[in-house]
Amino acid sequence: MLVDKEVLQDHWYVVAESADVSAAPVAVRLLSRDYVLWRSPDGSVVAAPDRCPHREAPLSAGWIDGGCLVCPYHGWTFADGGRCVEVPSSGPGRPVPPSSHLATIGVEERYGLVWICPGTPAASIPAITQDGDARYRRINSGIERWETSVTRMTDNFLDISHFPYVHAGTFGRDQDREVPTIDLVQLDDDFFGYRYVVEVGNEAGAASSGLDGRVVTRRMTTGFNLPFTVRSTIHYETGLDHVILLCSTPIDDVTSYFTFVIWRNDDVSVPAEEVIAFDRAIGAEDKRMLERVAGVLPLELQDTVSVQSDKPSVEWRRRLAALLATTPRRERPQGV
Ligand code: FES
Ligand SMILES: [Fe+2]
Repeated sequence: MLVDKEVLQDHWYVVAESADVSAAPVAVRLLSRDYVLWRSPDGSVVAAPDRCPHREAPLSAGWIDGGCLVCPYHGWTFADGGRCVEVPSSGPGRPVPPSSHLATIGVEERYGLVWICPGTPAASIPAITQDGDARYRRINSGIERWETSVTRMTDNFLDISHFPYVHAGTFGRDQDREVPTIDLVQLDDDFFGYRYVVEVGNEAGAASSGLDGRVVTRRMTTGFNLPFTVRSTIHYETGLDHVILLCSTPIDDVTSYFTFVIWRNDDVSVPAEEVIAFDRAIGAEDKRMLERVAGVLPLELQDTVSVQSDKPSVEWRRRLAALLATTPRRERPQGV
């Protein structure tokens, strides 16, 4: 089982958008474990196992009172940092048991997304330089649930040879089926991948490309950041940049969260929803294909046949397998 690999606990995963965590606790699932998220009075998001230390009720079924999370079963109340501050049955002013505090896990909000890391982070959340650049706007897309494994998703997002087939309905029909030789390079500090030029159909994508032609040329990069983050950048000859961060999160071996974030240096009068409708349609095509493919993508390279166009994915699989073979940075907290 991929999700049983303890070393995966030491990485950051997107489980929600910041906007999702406000007035009520939120239940999320990562690597086959349940967590609750809530926003405490200081505005920060807290994440903890979704299990009350008292009788194991799901805390996500509770509510928020003055920024504290209240368990729905007997009303134990948890404040900043998961500190248990009230056990109503004990009466006011009585100390709470030392083991009643929640074993919170790492949370970061970045790019309008909530990232959590149950273990000790082995690496930072990948940097998107456009995020701090006033010329670019950021567009979030919402969190989806895909009935497929993160390994199949990451493999797919690194692959351009499926474009003329899976994406014939959006942009792939006019693309050359032959993939030119791929040279893998370190694209920047955080992403490893390749650069390429593609001619793509523009009939469905005019709002996104800002161009009228039937076919447009994109100069692109696609790269990965272990374990499952992919970034594609698109540059049009008009100077328009369209950066897509593709985040895949393992709920379990065969179910995943998916979200994408876009940065563009474009005309902000075009509504965000109009701009990303094209990317949503492309994502739906990938989802439809991937949900037809059963199980986890084998990481052993000899278990599937690969060709030249699969080079980026083969390299990602090789590096992921090496990562999974490493020792976790520390013991997990008890019972988490
Ligand atoms: S189970 Fe949560 S207060 Fe009892
Ligand atoms: Fe695709």
